[in-house]
Amino acid sequence: MKKLITAVVSLGLMIGTASAGTDVGADIKAFQGYFKKQNPSVEFADYTIGVYALDAGSRDQFEEILDGIPPYEEAVEKGGEEFEKFGLGKCSALKDPAAARLAHPYYDDAAGTVVTLEGTIRRCYTEQTGKKMGTMKGKIARISSWISDQAAGEKINVKVESDGAKAAYERGKATFYAKRGQFNMSCADCHVYNAGKKARADILSPALGHTSHVPMYRAKWGGIGTLHRRYGGCYKNMRAKPLMAQSSEYRDMEFFHQAMSNGIEISADRYRK
Ligand code: HEC
Repeated sequence: MKKLITAVVSLGLMIGTASAGTDVGADIKAFQGYFKKQNPSVEFADYTIGVYALDAGSRDQFEEILDGIPPYEEAVEKGGEEFEKFGLGKCSALKDPAAARLAHPYYDDAAGTVVTLEGTIRRCYTEQTGKKMGTMKGKIARISSWISDQAAGEKINVKVESDGAKAAYERGKATFYAKRGQFNMSCADCHVYNAGKKARADILSPALGHTSHVPMYRAKWGGIGTLHRRYGGCYKNMRAKPLMAQSSEYRDMEFFHQAMSNGIEISADRYRK
C-alpha cells in the first residue's frame, strides 16, 4: 500500500460538492461524468464488472472463471433454499424478491433511517424464526445474493426524495469523501481519483458500479460477503477502525454509494479477486 500512498496526489476536491441544496441528479451526473471522461473507451454498462472493466489482463481471467462453474454458484442456490425454508417470502417486503432488490436501500421516513436489503432480510428472518441473523457472511450473504440474482439485468435506481432522505444521503456522501485513518485517505482517493491505478498487487476499482454485484464473492475470503463486510475491509485498508456492519453510518454511505450507480445493471457475476 505504501507505493500507492506516495502515488496518491490528493486533489482535495469533492465531486458534486454540497451547495445550498441537495441535488442528487447533479451529483450523479458529475460522478458518472468523471469516469466517462477518465475512461472514454469503457462502456457505461461495463462498470458492473468493477476493476475488470479497466484492466484487460485480469478481465480475461474473470471471464474464464465465469465460463466455468463460478465458485459462488452453490452458495447462491443454497440462499434460495434458505429463503424458502425460513419463510422469508411471507414477509411483504420480500414477497417479490426482484422488486425487493430494486427497492433497497431506501429512506424510511417514519423510522427516520436508511433501510438496506440486508436490514430487511434480518428483520424478516427474526419475525419468521425468532432468531437473529449475522450481517457479513453466511446466511445473510447467501440469501441476499439469491434475492439480488432475481433482479439481474434491472437497473439500480435509488430514490432520494424527502428532506430526511436528503439528509441521510448527505451524511453518507460526507462519509465517502472523509479522510480517515493513519493514511488520511478517503474512499474517493482510491476508488475515484486513483481508479485503474495499481495499489500493491491490486488495481483499484471505480466506485461507479461498486454496488451492482453485491454481495460479492472474494477469492481472498473464500466465500461471499456483504457490501458492509467489504466496507470494513476497506476501513482496514485505510488503517482505520471498521464500524459495525449495518451501523447507521454504513447504511447512509450505502445510500449515497448505490445512488451514484443509478442506471447501472444489477449483476449476478459476483466474483472478485
Ligand atoms: C488505500 C486504498 C483504498 C481505500 C482508501 C478504500 N479502498 Fe476499497 N478497495 C481497495 C482495494 C485494493 C480493493 C480491491 C480491488 C478493487 O476492487 O478495487 C477495494 C475494493 C473495494 C470494493 C469492492 C469492489 C468490487 O468490485 O467488488 C468496494 C465496494 C470498496 N472497496 C469500497 C470502499 C469504500 C466505501 C471505501 C471508503 C470507506 C474504500 N473502499 C476505501 C482499496 C481501497
